[in-house]
Amino acid sequence: MAVQIDHPFVQHKLALIRDVETGHKRFRELAREITQFICYEALKNIRTREVVVETPVAPAPCRTIDSDLVVIPILRAGVGMLDGILDLLPTARVGFVGLYRDEETKEPVTYYERFPPQIKGGTCIVIDPMLATGGSTVAALNLLKEQGAEDIIVICIVTCPEGIEAVESVHPDVPIFAASIDDGLDERSYIVPGLGDAGDRLFGTSHH
Ligand code: PRP
Ligand code: URA
Repeated sequence: MAVQIDHPFVQHKLALIRDVETGHKRFRELAREITQFICYEALKNIRTREVVVETPVAPAPCRTIDSDLVVIPILRAGVGMLDGILDLLPTARVGFVGLYRDEETKEPVTYYERFPPQIKGGTCIVIDPMLATGGSTVAALNLLKEQGAEDIIVICIVTCPEGIEAVESVHPDVPIFAASIDDGLDERSYIVPGLGDAGDRLFGTSHH
């Protein structure tokens, strides 16, 4: 299942982050803000527990979040979404997957992995701004499931039909939430229209 978050707040900020004139400071701010709006929507069915709280007036039936939450940014660009999600989920644990996409083969190469034990039994939220061919996300999901993760969602900023299909064909149980499902991929496997190289734009490492 792939869901595009059509809320005007998200779509307005998406227009700004796509703009080639948006510099890295603003790009980072927008990535953080967009992540928060997507997360708010993506986690609306999270497990809750019924509790009773004493107000100054009377007992109030309430619901609290009843799940160990583990956020997993895919290095490097996923880090650009981490602060935004931790603003909403301040007690979440964080696991890391280091992957880069080989520019020649387009295949993901794993260079780092470190997960908290709560990925088993908890809710895992994989974050990466771009889900393009899907290779990086599939590799991250494979690693998580090898470690026993069962309840996983993916949050990205931009994806495309090719990437969604790649993830769904291997991990049909993992829902994907995005600000936009774009048209497709170009010959360099960049998302079109996309927003360019997210890691470079977040961290100011592009040469132009
Ligand atoms: C980008 C992006 C994803 C991946 C998407 O990372 O952040 O991880 O490419 O492409 P895919 O769906 O085809 O695998 P990149 O490899 O550029 O590394 P970086 O985050 O370190 O810049
Ligand atoms: N990685 C990016 O950063 N952007 C794309 O469009 C595809 C992969």
